[in-house]
Amino acid sequence: MRGRPVRVSYQKTGQDGQARTGVISTPRGEIRTPAFMPVGTAGTVKAMMPESVRETGADILLGNTYHLMLRPGAERVARLGGLHGFMNWDRPILTDSGGFQVMSLAGLRKLTEEGVTFKSHIDGSKHELTPERSMEIQRLLGSDIVMCFDECPALPASDEAVAESMRLSMRWAARSKEAFGDRPGHALFGIQQGGVTRDLRAESAEKLVEIGFDGYAVGGLAVGEGQEAMFGVLDYAPGMLPEDKPRYLMGVGKPDDIVGAVKRGIDMMDCVLPSRSGRTGQAWTRRGQVNIKNARHMDDPRPLDEDCTCPACRNYSRAYLHHVFRSQEIISSMLLTWHNLHYYQQIMEGMRGAIAAGTFAAWEDEFHAGRAEGDI
Ligand code: GUN
Ligand code: ZN
Repeated sequence: MRGRPVRVSYQKTGQDGQARTGVISTPRGEIRTPAFMPVGTAGTVKAMMPESVRETGADILLGNTYHLMLRPGAERVARLGGLHGFMNWDRPILTDSGGFQVMSLAGLRKLTEEGVTFKSHIDGSKHELTPERSMEIQRLLGSDIVMCFDECPALPASDEAVAESMRLSMRWAARSKEAFGDRPGHALFGIQQGGVTRDLRAESAEKLVEIGFDGYAVGGLAVGEGQEAMFGVLDYAPGMLPEDKPRYLMGVGKPDDIVGAVKRGIDMMDCVLPSRSGRTGQAWTRRGQVNIKNARHMDDPRPLDEDCTCPACRNYSRAYLHHVFRSQEIISSMLLTWHNLHYYQQIMEGMRGAIAAGTFAAWEDEFHAGRAEGDI
């Protein structure tokens, strides 16, 4: 057996069109790409035990600087041995840097060159995040893949506002790199910004490459621009980033967004959608979406998806899933989240296999052909 690597590295093992497959090696294990990262915002993938998350096929989880700094606090997590031990997940963890969550969740924010001050959405207490503090928090958490501290402008925004925000994020990227320092075994990813403007995306990529990172994220997408505009950016943005480093699309998405992103050269993604919609009665299947609260499932003895091998589909009927959802039983969130995460990982495995075999186009046709719009 090979020993654990001491550094984080990326090896591309196959390509089909722009779609890539490969592996990111870390001291905490390998991440097969394209990879989907379930979101474990506050030290838990809601409604799932970590060993169950692993059973769905996940190689890596996402955690959040913003939530964990507020509760239970990064210094406390560090005293308790770090996020991996605290939450009982010993494989890789990527942490987002906080700025994006401050903008969407915190009250009363003030943005300056230095960073951002804000009020906690939990208790109204005042906090500050800067590139330096974000790097310190992510180090205290023990994150394997650390994200640069950035700003993602709220849409709609003028071209000048998007440009100004992107340039601030690039200055913060340089400060993030300086503050991160040299930490073998841990990776620092830069985040490209620039909205849906090609020149700004190019300027951002150039700046990030000049600073130099272990991987590169495409940020500032899936913020209300729509799939067509997002794919428009993904037609050129991944190609602006280094070929030999992983490319991560932040906060995406629905199954067809993920397939379209991988087709355009994306290697990693995260999204709350499969876990969040599991708690609101939405299941994603290869034939489309199922809204389990719909009364037509009340007497249906069939599983959610006959072809799915997850515990929810192997052992329970739609009628049961409907009943426990309507009764607000905790097992409803557990089963639907498990199914959704399992389905997302099946998509990733299917794409990895197809890219390696050079049959991605046929795989994509089959993916789309099997799907219906609306509740199935
Ligand atoms: N999550 C989704 N989009 C973004 C982004 O642009 N930046 C960061 N830091 N996180 C994100
Ligand atoms: Zn299932």
